[in-house]
Amino acid sequence: MKIIKTIVDLREHLAAFKHPAFVPTMGNLHEGHLALVRQAKPLGDVVVVSIFVNRLQFLPHEDFDTYPRTWEADCEALRAAGCDVLFAPSERELYPEAQGFTVQPPTELANILEGHFRPGFFGGVCTVVMKLFACVQPRVALFGQKDYQQLMVINRMVRQFALPIEVIGGKTLRAADGLALSSRNNYLKPAERQEAVQLCQTLQSMAHALQAGATDIAALEDQAMGTLSARGWQPDYLVVRRRTDLQQPTENEIATLAQGQGLVVLAAARIGSTRLIDNLEV
Ligand code: PAF
Repeated sequence: MKIIKTIVDLREHLAAFKHPAFVPTMGNLHEGHLALVRQAKPLGDVVVVSIFVNRLQFLPHEDFDTYPRTWEADCEALRAAGCDVLFAPSERELYPEAQGFTVQPPTELANILEGHFRPGFFGGVCTVVMKLFACVQPRVALFGQKDYQQLMVINRMVRQFALPIEVIGGKTLRAADGLALSSRNNYLKPAERQEAVQLCQTLQSMAHALQAGATDIAALEDQAMGTLSARGWQPDYLVVRRRTDLQQPTENEIATLAQGQGLVVLAAARIGSTRLIDNLEV
């Protein structure tokens, strides 16, 4: 695996390849990331992974400074997973001057759910992903489905800017008890880690209720919020949305969508000081 830290060196190295497959990450890699790397392997003639903790997508009070940076372990894991090129630019390399040009995703998609609770998050994500795309010029790019809204935002960005990139979602990997793998799981204290599974269990209950014919979405969402709050969580949202645009389904749509795989349930909630997100397609 070649480790490259500058855009010039990356371009020079990748000039020999026609079909880079790209997995952007912020490091602190877990099996979910590594599965994306393995999934990328047959999709390109070179697999490029980036590690860059992107300041632009963190709010001032969020965990940019403490975001786990595990360079040695990440390099070892990427080598074993078959990564060919690790692009790890410094902040000065990627943002040599204040990033005045940014990508602003449409509010109806980017200001709801994650974007509502983390204002500016998707602008930060789109800006860095656009820049990383410009550096790597991939033909295929892979993102985890755990970040469901992020995947949708990036898909739209690629479509609307007509970027010649195929965006592929990798399925969410889960621990044996069902907790979705996430770098932020590392923050959980032992008792919180045990409790954390309740997030996906609550989503499962919502999904089952919809499959069983429930149509009162507001009641379902309220009940889910109540369940987690009563257990000591601080939920931001537990919602039922259309898969196509993450908007609320109308009452008439619900039954059809629930039977026709058109819905997704999404959640974000804090346990202790750790904010977790998850989702399930219904
Ligand atoms: O999902 C992530 O790890 C980040 O949001 C991404 C896509 C690497 C952009 O910084």
